[in-house]
Parts: sequence; structure tokens; C-alpha cells
Amino acid sequence: ARIGAENILRGAGGETHQGAGGEVPVLTTQQGTPVADDQNSLKAGPRGPTLLEDFHFREKIFHFDHERIPERVVHARGYGAHGFFELTESLSDVTRADVLQRPGERVPAFVRFSTVAGSKGSFDLARDVRGFAVKLYTKEGNWDIVGNNIPVFFIQDAIKFPDVIHSVKPEPDREFPQAQSAHDNFWDFISLSPESINMALWTMSDRALPRSFRFMEGFGVHTFRLVNAAGQSRFVKFHWKPKMGLQSVVWNEAVKINGADPDFHRRDLWNAIGSGNFPEWELGVQLFDDDFADSFDFDVLDATKLIPEELVPVRRVGRLVLDRVVDNFFAETEQVAFCTQNIVPGVDFTNDLLLQGRNFSYLDTQIKRLGGPNFTHIPINAPKCPFHHFQQDGHMAMHNPKGRANYEPNSWGGAQGGPREDAARGFTTFPAQEGGAKTRVRSELFGDHYSQARQFYLSQTTIEQVHIQQAFTFELSKVETLAIRQRMVGHLIHVDQGLAAAVAQGLGLDGLPEAPAPARPVLDGLPPSPALSILKN
Ligand code: HEM
Repeated sequence: ARIGAENILRGAGGETHQGAGGEVPVLTTQQGTPVADDQNSLKAGPRGPTLLEDFHFREKIFHFDHERIPERVVHARGYGAHGFFELTESLSDVTRADVLQRPGERVPAFVRFSTVAGSKGSFDLARDVRGFAVKLYTKEGNWDIVGNNIPVFFIQDAIKFPDVIHSVKPEPDREFPQAQSAHDNFWDFISLSPESINMALWTMSDRALPRSFRFMEGFGVHTFRLVNAAGQSRFVKFHWKPKMGLQSVVWNEAVKINGADPDFHRRDLWNAIGSGNFPEWELGVQLFDDDFADSFDFDVLDATKLIPEELVPVRRVGRLVLDRVVDNFFAETEQVAFCTQNIVPGVDFTNDLLLQGRNFSYLDTQIKRLGGPNFTHIPINAPKCPFHHFQQDGHMAMHNPKGRANYEPNSWGGAQGGPREDAARGFTTFPAQEGGAKTRVRSELFGDHYSQARQFYLSQTTIEQVHIQQAFTFELSKVETLAIRQRMVGHLIHVDQGLAAAVAQGLGLDGLPEAPAPARPVLDGLPPSPALSILKN
């Protein structure tokens, strides 16, 4: 408030001017031309009309007119912060990734948390999955772990992503409901896609109403590979474990908080970091080999399944600390571009059908969202290690090749010749054996849609189970089509009879509907996983 206060001037119409002087810089146009009057446009006489000649006025308005960029097609509402990742235990036995070699070493990090379904202006405490996207600026380039706070996903194959997202977003004719999964289209899709039942259980649980971003777990969801210097590969699942544990609010609180403070989560993160309570997570890895993967009843490439932590314990190998808020929300949080294909040597993909699709989708959407192929030139997206390539031109190009060469091989030596490849240090793909006839058929190992949903439900404490019953009852009560309600309750019979009965009663259904025939037998007696219950943590 002090700045400029000593320089207050009054214009002819009584309007306030704050003049430059002392530490207050001169206002300029984008071209750097000093501005004498920012209160009045140039006019032909004191009563106008406004003159087209007023380049300052035109520049100011035209720039304002172009301030908006498309919001993300999903995860539009988000909040980010800076920090660092520090390795606490070397993983050099299983990966050559430089960032996972030397305990004690830190790299900068940027994290964006988000809801999935709501628009950029929606509220924080919607019942929804939360995005947990991490960018690690390593010495070997940017490594993005673009995860969620739930370890499984709605669909197995990326070709279904537009469908699941269309179904959860506002319906195309009426453009509601906003930021709510409580409507016919969503539950119609879910009830017709049994692969989504496990995720549906998770999203009806307390996990979908986090107390704050600081009390959330994060999961890379997919099975990735780690590859060591000898070229050996292990499968890996990535986890972020919050130092403060898990906490959720209950639905009654969420509804009130959304009304009173739609910015509840972003305010919490801003205030926590501002007051020195830096949120912290441990990086955990679940490592397993091909034999172990083959021993499961389900396919580890199926993103609707998790690997139970009692079968493969989570090894904690690092910590992620968020200690700095952004200087500018748009420049950093809105323009940051995460992508699952941003990996480093020593990390690799698997054939997970969802991951393969994501690797295409993020870059594609970001080229549109951020206005062309040069969004890696935006500081938040640029690597913090040296980088050299021959990509050039395009809108907003900031780093064109230097010197004569913009191709290789070339005959120009030294600086003129530009960068060269390096077989030893460069990224090499793990030479997994692939083959088989082209087909759209999905492996039958992807066919058990209920066992893990059942395991999840049974792992919950009684009150958490009641919350799940109430969430299904509330959400399905917003569904107008009786057949969709019945179809959903039919699926729940395979998860747990008591759950199905409670929801059927809550909805006033006339008894239990018929359960659909499961594609594979529902496994009983899976160990309830203590790691899944929030209250036991
Ligand atoms: C955005 C996670 C599946 C397409 C995001 C974001 C997260 C995320 C965290 C927000 C990134 C940010 O903060 O900027 C996930 C997870 C998935 C999944 C964990 C499944 C395991 C998919 C699939 C597709 C997809 C299957 C498409 C085939 C997108 C797109 C964006 C996005 C287009 C917007 C990116 C942008 O505009 O910057 N996802 N997603 N996602 N996701 Fe996914």
C-alpha cells in the first residue's frame, strides 16, 4: 500500500494517478515506450470519439482480449507449488536413473494437485479423484510422474478415456451438473463398464474428499519399468506417502465447505507453505519381477488393479518437500505441462494400454492448450539441465539452434556442428520381447472386475463402509433412470451383499436386482489391506 502512495496525483477529471519516481518504475507499453497517461484514452476532444491512433489503448485492450487460454480438458482446476526431491536410499541396483543414485542429493520439483471433472472455476471439495502430478527437474532431463491420489483407474484402455470423461462432465444438452458425478450419464457409463467398479468404490470412499492436499497419497497408477546399468529390468509402481498421514472430511463437511470457501484446498496449501509448514511426502516403490507378475490372477498391465502392499511392501527411497509457492499462478501452475512420456534413462514404460494412450494424449493436448510446439520454452516446463537439439522455429521460439548446423550428421565440427548423440548416456528402450497377431481383443486376465473392489470394501472400517454406502445412495439418488440405479446395485452385489442391500434400501428399490454374470470368478478371502483404510493409518 505504501508504494506509490507518496506519488499520488490528480487528473483533470479527478481520477487518481500514481506517478513513477524513486523505486517506482515507469509504466511502459510492451515495446518499452514510457506511458504518460494510463487513465484516459486519446480522443478527438474531451467528449470523444476515441482515436484509433492510440497505440497504448489498443495494445492494452487487445492483450486483455487474449488473456484466456483453453483450460485443461480434464484436471482443469489445480494448484501448484515448488519444492525439491531428495533421495534417501540409493536404487542403483535397479535403475541407472541419475536422480535415484546418490542419497542426500536433491533436485528441484514442481507439483500440481487437481480435481478431474470440474472446470477451472469449480470448487475444491468436490467428490472426485485428485491429480497428483510431479515434475522432477533432474540432471538427465525432466521426469514427470503424473499420478492421482487413488491407485487404480476407471478404464483399462485409453480408447475409453474420452467416453469416461464425457460421461462425468456436464451433459451436453443441459450443461449440468457441474463438478459432480451424481448424474445419469456418469452412472450409465460406469454401470455399463464393469471394469470401472473398483475405481467407483474408491471414489465413493473418503479418499475422494481429502482434508487437504497435504493429507493425500499419490500413485503413479501404472506399472512402469526400472532398468539398471546392466540392462536388467524390474517392474515398479510409484507411491507418494504423506508424512502427516491420510485425512478426509465427511460429505456433510464437504458440502458446507464448498459453499463457504470453494478455495479450501488451495488456501490450505498456500497458508501451510507461507507459514513454514512445508508439506512432505516419501517416495515409495513397489518392485517386482516378471515371475512375480506372472503369478497374479490379474494382469499387472491392468490399471484398474493395484498390487497389494502386503504382497509387495512399499520401499521408501526419497522425500518430496514443497517449500515455495508460485510467483505467478498463470505462468507456473496454469502453464505447467506434465506428460507421462517425460521419463529419464533408467525408467521405462510397460505395455499398459492406458499408459500408452496417455503418452500420446498429453503432448497432443498441450500443443493446443499452450499455443504450439514450443511450450517447453516456458520456464516452468524447461529442463534445468543443459539441453541441445535441432528443433527450431514455430510460434514463440525462444531457443533456436545456434551456429550453422540444424541437422545431423553434418560436416561442421566444434560449436558449428551442434550436439551429437551419446549411446552410453542416452535413453535406451528396454528391449522387451513383443509379438503376436494384431487384435482388438483384450487379454482375459483383465476380466476380473470385482475381486479388488471387494478387497477394498472389506479393508475399510465400519464407519468408512457406511460412508461408501451413503455416497452410493446419495449419488445414485440423483440418477433419474431406474434401470441405471438397478444396474449399479447389481454390480455392488458382487462387491458385498451388505453394501448392495444398504444402497438398494437407501434408494427405495424393491429388493435386490439381479447381479450381472461376472466375466471371471470373484475371488474371496483376499487379505484386507490395512494400508487402504484411512482410519487405521
Ligand atoms: C491431465 C492423471 C489417464 C489425458 C491429467 C493430470 C493428471 C492426470 C494428474 C493433470 C496434470 C496437470 O496438473 O497439469 C491421470 C491418471 C490417469 C490418467 C493418473 C490414469 C491412470 C488419462 C488418460 C488420458 C489422459 C487415459 C488420455 C488418453 C489427460 C489430458 C490431460 C490430463 C488430455 C490434460 C493435460 C493438459 O492439458 O496439460 N491427467 N490421467 N489422462 N490427462 Fe490424465
